Amino acid sequence: MTVYHDVPGLRPVVAGLEETRIVQMVQYGRGRPGLIPLWVGEGDIPTPDFIREACDRGIRDGRVFYTWQRGLPELREALGAYMTRLHATPNGAPPVLADRVTITSSGMQGIMLTVQALVGPGDEVVVVTPVWPNVMSAVRLMGGVVVPVPLDPAPEGWALDLGKLAAAIGPRTKAVFVNSPSNPTGWTLDRPTLRAVWDLVRGRDVWLVADEVYTRLTYEQPVAPSFLELAEADDKLIVVNSFSKNWCMTGWRLGWLTTPPALGDALEKLVQLNTSGTAEFIQYAGLVAVEQGEPFLADMLARCRQGRDIITRALNQVPGVTVAPPPGAFYGFLRLEGVTDSMDFARRLVDRANVGLAPGSAFGPGGEGSLRLCFASSPTLLEEAMARLVPALGEMLASRFGGVEERLGHG
Ligand SMILES: Cc1ncc(COP(=O)(O)O)c(C=O)c1O
Repeated sequence: MTVYHDVPGLRPVVAGLEETRIVQMVQYGRGRPGLIPLWVGEGDIPTPDFIREACDRGIRDGRVFYTWQRGLPELREALGAYMTRLHATPNGAPPVLADRVTITSSGMQGIMLTVQALVGPGDEVVVVTPVWPNVMSAVRLMGGVVVPVPLDPAPEGWALDLGKLAAAIGPRTKAVFVNSPSNPTGWTLDRPTLRAVWDLVRGRDVWLVADEVYTRLTYEQPVAPSFLELAEADDKLIVVNSFSKNWCMTGWRLGWLTTPPALGDALEKLVQLNTSGTAEFIQYAGLVAVEQGEPFLADMLARCRQGRDIITRALNQVPGVTVAPPPGAFYGFLRLEGVTDSMDFARRLVDRANVGLAPGSAFGPGGEGSLRLCFASSPTLLEEAMARLVPALGEMLASRFGGVEERLGHG
């Protein structure tokens, strides 16, 4: 294993970045025969054929040269129309024109470009947690400071305390980062809270960075509320999106940002310096995904809904485990009574059940004491995972409270 601290000349901030605990967990368990991996944000369904075929066609048609830095004009156009259809038209917001869309080489890169554009040493970014950890690392990499605002556990799931959010915004705040529907909790902003957050952030004249990569994976409404419903084109709003989750394209590395048009030139320069653009055949496949991908997305949502039912039904039977059915995204966030070191627990669980979950502590304040499980996989795989997890969790949790495990002879 590389010992980063020993590399001469390495910037201390890079040396000091912790490998995310999700990755640490994957490294711990990867390659075990028969392992069921539910630790990262993807299922076992490959990208649908119509998208893969478009990519093949793109390569065969010679779409293999350097291309537009901000993305193929036709893809930007199509995404503008897609965002308008989803968020603007039904809510009376201004249409999203192509001048607000920048193609990125993944949602992650969209976050990184945003942070590169906005955050310098000592700048603060308020982040609602628990949250996918990469955003916090991206801020730290640029010398910024993360100011977490943990969600509060509520009877029906999680709740954002607007007072806490307001108190976290100070003179050094450059941006507020909100991910709804949330990875890992599934927490989804309702419209009154969306409006309140928007008014708060807009009133303080800071940027709102909205990670909406799970906006289509929502179980109680056709599409999750988006800040695009409220914003004028020139407002300080950046919305992060990705092809990864909607169309099972995690390996393709394709995403997009929606921003004020005025940010376009800056993003174009940053794309130039990071990748000089996303492969044209990949963008071409993305165009086909947006234009023809609604039926697949409906299947994807149905599969996730089934997955959500399977895991909540099974896991809530285990004494000491609670998992609320999340309103959005595709993760169960299991609260484990009495567990204070979720990393250690997740390691022991993979040793015992051969099912990989992510430790809640990976997701910042509010995450410890939980495990995250991705339920985007096929029902058969999830049923098999439950058949292993239910007894293993039951025994491991029971053993914490008085040695039931030993009494049962499973020691
Ligand atoms: C909340 C959130 N944002 C962004 C991403 C990045 O997705 P990708 O880089 O695969 O496009 C993920 C991936 O898991 C995520 O969960």
